[in-house]
Amino acid sequence: MTDKSTQDRVLIFDTTLRDGEQSPGATMTHEEKLEIAQLLDEMGVDIIEAGFPIASEGDFAAVSEIAKLAKNATICGLARANYKDIDRCWEAVRHARSPRIHTFIGTSPLHRAIPNLDMDQMAERIHDTVTHARNLCDNVQWSPMDATRTEADYLCRVVEIAIKAGATTINIPDTVGYTYPRESAKIIAMLKERVPGADDIIFATHCHNDLGMATANALAAVEAGARQIECTINGLGERAGNTALEEVVMALKVRNDILPFRTGIDTTKIMNISRRVSTVSGFPVQFNKAIVGKNAFLHESGIHQDGVLKNVETFEIMRPEDIGLTAKNIAMGKHSGRAALRSKMKELGVDLADNQLNDLFVRFKALADRKKEIYDDDLLALVADSETHETHDTLQVKRLRVICGTDGPQEAELTLSIDGVDHSIDATGDGPVDAAFNAVKMLYPHRARLQLYQVHAVTEGTDAQATVSVRIEEDGRIATGQSADTDTIVASVKAYVNALNRLIVRRTKSAPDSDVKSINYRDA
Ligand code: KIV
Ligand code: ZN
Repeated sequence: MTDKSTQDRVLIFDTTLRDGEQSPGATMTHEEKLEIAQLLDEMGVDIIEAGFPIASEGDFAAVSEIAKLAKNATICGLARANYKDIDRCWEAVRHARSPRIHTFIGTSPLHRAIPNLDMDQMAERIHDTVTHARNLCDNVQWSPMDATRTEADYLCRVVEIAIKAGATTINIPDTVGYTYPRESAKIIAMLKERVPGADDIIFATHCHNDLGMATANALAAVEAGARQIECTINGLGERAGNTALEEVVMALKVRNDILPFRTGIDTTKIMNISRRVSTVSGFPVQFNKAIVGKNAFLHESGIHQDGVLKNVETFEIMRPEDIGLTAKNIAMGKHSGRAALRSKMKELGVDLADNQLNDLFVRFKALADRKKEIYDDDLLALVADSETHETHDTLQVKRLRVICGTDGPQEAELTLSIDGVDHSIDATGDGPVDAAFNAVKMLYPHRARLQLYQVHAVTEGTDAQATVSVRIEEDGRIATGQSADTDTIVASVKAYVNALNRLIVRRTKSAPDSDVKSINYRDA
């Protein structure tokens, strides 16, 4: 074994902003992408895949700006196996302190059939495109898409070509989430054994979770010699998602006895970034999700509670503080002042400018008037909510009153400010939310279809705040909206209006998402 393969350091390659963001509905705004990239950089991610620069002007702008802003991480962009994609990718990442081009082509029989290349033609394309990328950038990653369904001999052949052409990282994607831990390990071991030059490069593992094995497959690949894990926050990604960053990182930490590898991740930053990704992507985290789910550290049953009180290790294999989860104490009361709020927010990992603190303080006081106990999660929901509503928004909810009863239909009286002018209307519907949404649509006619409407209680109790996520789609453009309020109907309408405001911005600024998706991965 050479030096590289004996290293215990596993690089964390985060693709939340590329593979995660490209999953339908998870679209993030430019500012949100920059914020997530900054959090990833601060938490110690080694490589950030910031986007797919050729896909749209928006993706290009985000990758370029992230490249300029990143302080520690290598910034990577994705490119298909053609010169135009690779040149565009380089244009975006070249600003980074440490840039990387990631180029790929589907190598399995099914994927080879799409560009209609035979094995030799594809091998030539790989040689030419990796050489081209390497002439632009010293740090080149190459991926044989659908590697786990590619014939073993052909996989060895193309990996060898990519290494000879200058690839410094070879990523082995399980594109359709088909592999199994033993097989995932076997593929890496085979490549390390059979491919000349394998000891001089880093092998990466990129797993999808279609069979629920993405984390296990990634860790098995590491045991076999992979030293880069590709993953996303909360496992965000198409279909069943990608390997979850928090899962592999915490597995390597908690089971370091049998997985003697280390990452550079500050695990105490996990919870904060998980919440932010959930908010900005509009993809809520399932309650029983490993590590970051709301219930991951809850001990409800009597036996568990008793055990945990006597010795936390009875039922806890890691401490909530390890992932930055503070105790669910009552955070603040009605009489808490501005300084206490600032210090509490700091403790929760949220740094606020003076004007943001003032705004939060006003909203905190209003909430404290309606809700007896304010928990940490309440404060975080308020912060998330203030970030979604801007004073320059086209649409603003001014007044809402709903009339409910067992003998419907329900009615909503709504006043909506549109470009600064108040408009009011009464509408009916099948339930109060439907009535209120109908009122919005009557005042602001649009063709957007509701794709998702989700409500979560932030804390326990009937006075809990509800966070509502809404996703809408119009002409291929997708926009998500969120809001939080102790009144579920108010939160729902504000989330809907938030999504519409974002759609209005997207109509003027960017190409439809369908344009992005129509640049198919396979159109190399
Ligand atoms: O899953 C996959 O194959 C990918 C490639 C583009 C690396 O995301
Ligand atoms: Zn992928």
